[in-house]
Amino acid sequence: MKEIGIGLLGFGTVGAGVVDGLRRNGEMLAARLGVKPVLVGVADLDLDTDRGVPLDGDILTDNAESVVDDPRVQVVVELIGGTGAAKSLVKRALDQGKPVVTANKHLLAEHGAEIFALAAKKEADIYFGASVGGGIPIIRALRDGLIANHIDSIYAILNGTCNYILTRMEAEGLSFDHVLKEAQEAGYAEADPGLDIDGLDTAHKAVLLAYLAYGFPVPMDAVHVEGIRGLAETDIEYARDLGYRIKLLAVIRRSEDGVEVGVHPSLVPAEHVLASVSGVYNAVMVYGDMVGQTLYYGRGAGREPTASTVLGDIADAARNLGADLPRSASVSSSSRGVEIRKAGEIETRYYLRLSLLDKPGVLARIAGALGENGISIASVLQKEPAKGEYVPVVVVTHRGHEKAFASALEQIDSMDIVGGPTARLRIEDQA
Ligand code: HSE
Repeated sequence: MKEIGIGLLGFGTVGAGVVDGLRRNGEMLAARLGVKPVLVGVADLDLDTDRGVPLDGDILTDNAESVVDDPRVQVVVELIGGTGAAKSLVKRALDQGKPVVTANKHLLAEHGAEIFALAAKKEADIYFGASVGGGIPIIRALRDGLIANHIDSIYAILNGTCNYILTRMEAEGLSFDHVLKEAQEAGYAEADPGLDIDGLDTAHKAVLLAYLAYGFPVPMDAVHVEGIRGLAETDIEYARDLGYRIKLLAVIRRSEDGVEVGVHPSLVPAEHVLASVSGVYNAVMVYGDMVGQTLYYGRGAGREPTASTVLGDIADAARNLGADLPRSASVSSSSRGVEIRKAGEIETRYYLRLSLLDKPGVLARIAGALGENGISIASVLQKEPAKGEYVPVVVVTHRGHEKAFASALEQIDSMDIVGGPTARLRIEDQA
C-alpha cells in the first residue's frame, strides 16, 4: 500500500494522542483510506519527558525545521501552539508546497489572512479541524456538509475549560480557582489558562467559524470578548433562580446590518439545549438557510478527542495526496463585502445585578435611568431579608442597544444610592 510520510511538530498532550491513535488505529485507518500514513519525524524541544507512548525508531528530534524539510515528510502536523515558532514552521511547510494539519486556533485567528493566502499561492492545503471544538468535526461540517447554505447564525460553547468551570461551580458550589486547577490537571486548559478564562480561546475559534461561514477573516479587534474571570457565584445562583444557566457563548450572526461576532458569558434559558451542555463538552448550533437548525456536540478539549480530529485531517490530507488531488484552502467568498457590526449597535437583553440602598424611591431612580435610555424592564428580583446597607437587586431587561446600556449604567453607577459597580450579563434566548 502507498505510504504517506507524516512529520509531527509538538509532542505534548495532543501530539502524544496522535502518536497513540496511529499506533492503535493506524491499520484500520489505512484500510479505510487506501493509503497508509506513516510517522517519519517528530519534533519537540523536550526530548526527555516520557509521554507514555513509544515512537518507532529514533525519530524524535529538537530540530523542527529538519522535520519540515525532510523529503520523506509529505504532510506536516503542527501541534506546538501559539504564534511564535508555529507560525514560521507552518509557513516553511506551505512554502515547500506541503499540506499542513494544525490545531492552532490562536495562529489562524491572528494570522489567518497571511497563512491562507500563502496556502492558496502554493496550492498546499491547510486543515484545521482540531482548532475548533476538539473532537467535534464542526469545521468539516461547515466546509463540506453545509456548503450549500447561507449561514444565518452560530451559537456555540467552544471552550471546554470554561464550560467545565461553570458546570462545577453551578452544580457543586466550588470556587473558580479550585475548578480551574482541576481543569489544568486534566489537560483541558491552554498552557496559558488566561486564554481560556478571559474568552480569547473562544474568540479565536469564533473567528475561524465566522471565516468559514462568511468567507472573510474577521479581525480579532472587531470581536467583543468577555470571559468568565471574576464571575460571581451569586450571579450563577440568581440566574438559576430566574430559570437560566450561565454559559460562555460565542455568538456569530448575520443581519441586514452586518455580521456580529462576540464572546460573552450569557444567560441561556434552562430548557434550551445549550444550557444542558455540561463539563468539558462543547456544542455548536448552526442555522443554515436550507438546512435549518443543526447541532454538533462532543468533547471540546483533551488528548484523545482532539487527536481524533487531527487524525481525521491527516486522513483527509493523505487521501488527497494519494489521489493526487490538491484542494484549495480558500473558502467561499459568497459573503465578501458583508460588514462587521459595531458592538454598540448590537441589540440584546441584559441581566443586571445592582447593589442598592434599601430605601424608598431607589428603584424608581434606577427605572428612570433605564427608561431615559429607552430600556424596558422585564422583571425585578430582590430577596429578603436584606443583610447589609446595600442589597443586591436583579433587573432583567427587554432588548436594547448595547450603547444604551452603556450609557444607562454609567448614569446608574455614579448615583449615591449605588454601593458598587453593576454586574451585567447578556441573555441569549433567541438561539
Ligand atoms: N483550552 C481549550 C479548551 C482546548 O478548554 O477548550 C481546546 O481548544
